[in-house]
Amino acid sequence: MTEGTTEGTGTVAAEAAGQPAAEAPLLRVCDLRKAFVHGGKELHVLRGVDFVVRRGEMAAIVGASGAGKSTLLHIVGTLDAPTAGRVEFDGRDVSRMDGRALAVFRNRTIGFVFQFHHLLPEFNALENVMLPAIIARRPREEARSRAERLLREVGLGERMTHRPSELSGGEQQRVAIARALVMEPRLLLADEPTGNIDSQTAAGIHELFFSLNRQHGTTMIVVTHDERLASKLPRRLEIRDGQIVRDTGAPPPLEEPPDAPGPPAAPPVPAAGD
Ligand SMILES: Nc1ncnc2c1ncn2[C@@H]1O[C@H](COP(=O)(O)OP(=O)(O)OP(=O)(O)O)[C@@H](O)[C@H]1O
Ligand SMILES: [Mg+2]
Repeated sequence: MTEGTTEGTGTVAAEAAGQPAAEAPLLRVCDLRKAFVHGGKELHVLRGVDFVVRRGEMAAIVGASGAGKSTLLHIVGTLDAPTAGRVEFDGRDVSRMDGRALAVFRNRTIGFVFQFHHLLPEFNALENVMLPAIIARRPREEARSRAERLLREVGLGERMTHRPSELSGGEQQRVAIARALVMEPRLLLADEPTGNIDSQTAAGIHELFFSLNRQHGTTMIVVTHDERLASKLPRRLEIRDGQIVRDTGAPPPLEEPPDAPGPPAAPPVPAAGD
């Protein structure tokens, strides 16, 4: 094992052998809490959030403005640390990883589409999309051809050399989506991915998400106020007062791990005539 620490449940042996625990779900969020201190007061934004996401699932997170959706997504994406609780990825606690191990994990595993797209203003669309692959030291030509393909898929084949300031808000958001996908992440976290995009382009992006899920099995968690998107996603988690108040598709409980203690053995039956 070269990355981070292992505090996950029942995974130490598998991790020590360099293997993710086969029985672990892709993502497990356990009693997650987040409080911000502001103006000397504690603001409890997440108050014990629990859910499990299995490989290949697509889930919407919905809730009122200020409910804590972006906060939750940032913590799940390891961009922020929880006040308490855990985020396990493949059975490994990633919520307290830090430094280079965390940066490598995030770059290789998670694609993030932010509510505000955070493109680098001095780079053009193509360079912005290539960047995660360059950081991961992928061959430049491979990075370029992937980035070009993705930009065409989001309808920006004619805008590759434009800088963010030379793109519309919706176009910038589409560049951000292409950038999130360039590393073919196992988990895509999207925060209002089509919030400022017209309905026709938005429909194209929704389709892109579904085809990505079908073709690559990409797991997706999408925060959205867009009912057209939320209603198409197979699972909906509703957040209110810092907790999940409704989960339409909670998966059944995971099977007991093989080394879990079984029922006590029956006492030996005395042989007849003893
Ligand atoms: N760094 C911070 N310091 C203090 N309070 C914060 C901080 N970040 C977020 N908050 C507060 O936490 C609450 C949840 O914020 P969050 O951004 O998660 O909401 P949201 O559900 O994503 O809302 P929206 O739908 O408007 O994007 C808000 O009331 C916000 O004011
Ligand atoms: Mg938000």
